[in-house]
Amino acid sequence: MTTFVRYVKTQAMAKTVLVSGGAGYIGSHVTVELISAGYEVVVADNMSNCDMTCFEGVKKITGRNDIPFYQIDCCDYAAVTRLFDENRIDAVIHFAAFKAVGESVAEPIMYYRNNLVSFLNILEAAKTHGGCNVLFSSSATVYGEAEVLPVTEQTPRLPATSPYGNTKQMCEDILRDVVLATATSEGPVKGIALRYFNPIGAHPSALIGELPRGVPNNLVPFITQTAIGKRECLSIFGNDYDTEDGTCLRDYIDIVDLAKAHVAAVSRMVDGRMKEGYEIFNVGTGRPVSVYELVTAFEKVNGLKLNYKFAPRRPGDVVAIWADTRLANDELGWKAERSVEDTLASAWAWERHLAGK
Ligand code: WQD
Repeated sequence: MTTFVRYVKTQAMAKTVLVSGGAGYIGSHVTVELISAGYEVVVADNMSNCDMTCFEGVKKITGRNDIPFYQIDCCDYAAVTRLFDENRIDAVIHFAAFKAVGESVAEPIMYYRNNLVSFLNILEAAKTHGGCNVLFSSSATVYGEAEVLPVTEQTPRLPATSPYGNTKQMCEDILRDVVLATATSEGPVKGIALRYFNPIGAHPSALIGELPRGVPNNLVPFITQTAIGKRECLSIFGNDYDTEDGTCLRDYIDIVDLAKAHVAAVSRMVDGRMKEGYEIFNVGTGRPVSVYELVTAFEKVNGLKLNYKFAPRRPGDVVAIWADTRLANDELGWKAERSVEDTLASAWAWERHLAGK
């Protein structure tokens, strides 16, 4: 009885969002935006790919020292259940996953086990606790090398080229199936998959940002680490592609804009504005930028010269991908706002913050 009373919420009470993987790069920015939009947040993270830097930064930015933090592995079903028992969760945003494409090729069992089991546990707990809204962090990687650009949510997914990419596709399908199976039950699960393009940049406070372990795989952390002197030279992978300057085209989405898309999607779910039980949205800018353009924009906005060279193509790269963002613009009432220059300035400010400069 006591437990039940603890869960009773009035309309006026803030909704609570569980952010799994909330101490990481995207999770920490999303936590900040959720709190500033009036949500309560519970963070779960096993700290396998981050330290407490970003979570401490979140506390500083929000002025909240009381954000519940569970250091748990979502593959541990008992721990996930306990979290749901102890909190009335209105929505879950699931980030807790491994994300290195190359590593997934070398360690497929580890990737499938971690990324699938953790999501299944979240869904099972959501289902057995009276239903829940679940937002899955998917990726533009599901489109592969699309024939028609920009890609819409209707663009066919292509077979994944890595176990990492495959887990994104599989988790999308699992979410869709769980939504369908629970639709008429007493505890329905509703779902949104957000397909991110290339998230970059950092919070304007420079208190949270991307913290890659070891040598970065992604372009922008490699650029900032080269600029600060941690890496000697950036290799631009391929300048003989069939694009204007020969380098690959991507849709670089600012991390704070991306975080705000999550708030818009969560609000749509918890306020009952979904049109289907399972929905998918592209989260990008709709603007293709080449690797070379990005590098020169970084130099210009930050007033520095970057040591870079052209190198052979990186196996597995698609030539070009960018988003048709109309669905997210119209349905979520969300639009990317920050310019690529401001985003690159924020990435550089974060790298300098890390270096104490
Ligand atoms: C961008 C461009 C590279 C590094 C990956 C995942 C995707 C996702 C985001 C994940 C490419 C070029 C890069 C370098 C370079 N989600 N590049 N030199 O490959 O588009 O997407 O990250 O968690 O699922 O696949 O991003 O930043 O690695 O590369 O020239 O040192 O920069 O070839 O054209 P990608 P990226």
